[in-house]
Amino acid sequence: MRTVAWLAAAPAGHGVPLGLWLLVVGALVVGGLASASPWLRRAHPHAWWALAGFPVAVARVLWTWRRLAEVQNLSVAKRSQLAVVNQVVVRGRALKLVKPKLSLPRWRLGGLEVVVRLHPGQVPEQYAAAAEAMVHAWRVFAVRAISEKRGFVVLRAQAWDPLAVPFVPQVRSAGRLSAVVGILETGVWWRVNLRETPHVLAVGATRSGKSTLIAALVAQLARQKVALVGIDLKGAMELGLFERRLTALASSRAEAGPLLDRLVEIMTGRMARCRAEGVRSVWELPRLLQPVPIVVFVDEVAELFLMASSAEKNEVAQCSTALLRIGQLGAALGVHLVVAGQRFGSDLGPGATAIRSQLAGRIAFRVLDKGTAEMVLGDTAPDAVDAVQAISADMPGTALVSDTSTGGFLRARTHVVTVEQARKVAEEYAHLAPGLDELWAAGGGAA
Ligand SMILES: Nc1ncnc2c1ncn2[C@@H]1O[C@H](COP(=O)(O)OP(=O)(O)OP(=O)(O)O)[C@@H](O)[C@H]1O
Ligand SMILES: [Mg+2]
Repeated sequence: MRTVAWLAAAPAGHGVPLGLWLLVVGALVVGGLASASPWLRRAHPHAWWALAGFPVAVARVLWTWRRLAEVQNLSVAKRSQLAVVNQVVVRGRALKLVKPKLSLPRWRLGGLEVVVRLHPGQVPEQYAAAAEAMVHAWRVFAVRAISEKRGFVVLRAQAWDPLAVPFVPQVRSAGRLSAVVGILETGVWWRVNLRETPHVLAVGATRSGKSTLIAALVAQLARQKVALVGIDLKGAMELGLFERRLTALASSRAEAGPLLDRLVEIMTGRMARCRAEGVRSVWELPRLLQPVPIVVFVDEVAELFLMASSAEKNEVAQCSTALLRIGQLGAALGVHLVVAGQRFGSDLGPGATAIRSQLAGRIAFRVLDKGTAEMVLGDTAPDAVDAVQAISADMPGTALVSDTSTGGFLRARTHVVTVEQARKVAEEYAHLAPGLDELWAAGGGAA
């Protein structure tokens, strides 16, 4: 304020030197940014990152690199660490260490990245081990060390937890049988691709976000030429919102059994067509003969297996046999399963474990006990068992998903589809819902 008053009071005719002007304007901009920073960061994180966060982080990276590299043993001595003293060879730590060469930090949406040239003898794992120290030195949320090119490592810093910021995906189409359902901790879209992973199992405690994931998948796949079939054993309260876009919807086990049997019949028809054409899967058929893919959503799968009386045994057997057949044969015949439940283990009967082993795509939401975590991840990613129990209850929709590039697991969060959005999608794309009979004809069995 005082600076502004002084400027106003400057005698007329005596121009204020340009350097002073720039200094004052610069001071005002920096001062304004500093005071608006916490608000800007909360309300508009990307704008904050562009204006204040990124330049400050760049300065921190460059300023701390020498010290960081030394403390984390990433700097090496140029001269040999062996020396001859009084005719004795001694090994010591050279006084002058050379830090690894660092590129200028590059901008990334909500983060930055730098490329480091490895010293001979170094491996990327050494940088991954130092990532936690970089997080603190650079005051960012996370740093990942990625090695895409031999001899170099890319350090990718994320300014904030992308999972903590609500978002709406802007991707209209993610490719056939592929859907953007949320965001990964690396800041990129979380895609579920049923061509790559034909069957998916999502497990999590109550209110961990399973049905929200199914809604996000349905809302995206609804825009494609795909038949969507729902088995929602909580009275179809969730999938009922999409009813107009669904080819069939079962809300109880009694309805699910015949529906699943019908899907197995459709598969058998498709199989006959493939045999007649001499191909191994529907995807190898000529384009005109390719049937419409079918995605079957099963929410609260345990309800299919639980028996209160022996009279229900036949229903359970019917559902479990059909699900297993779809799991075994569906991938080649364009029939996919997306199964969600709180548990899906041997306590539900031997059928459950056999089906589970067919569901290779695993999504683990928050679980309450180690047994369930092992049930979902034990056979595919035993290392992630502890991480899934650490997911906090105040971030529903957060899950661990497999990372196809590294074979490891990543944290991810779904985006929420509101009731209005679900109804709107169902309405808008209702015309894309084929009837069950059309699927049969397209499968070639009745043709
Ligand atoms: N990604 C998300 N962001 C914010 N809120 C979410 C997210 N995912 C789910 N929720 C909220 O968490 C609550 C529980 O979600 P959801 O119904 O999907 O859980 P669920 O695992 O299906 O639970 P249940 O086993 O009881 O059916 C809902 O109120 C939902 O809006
Ligand atoms: Mg649910």
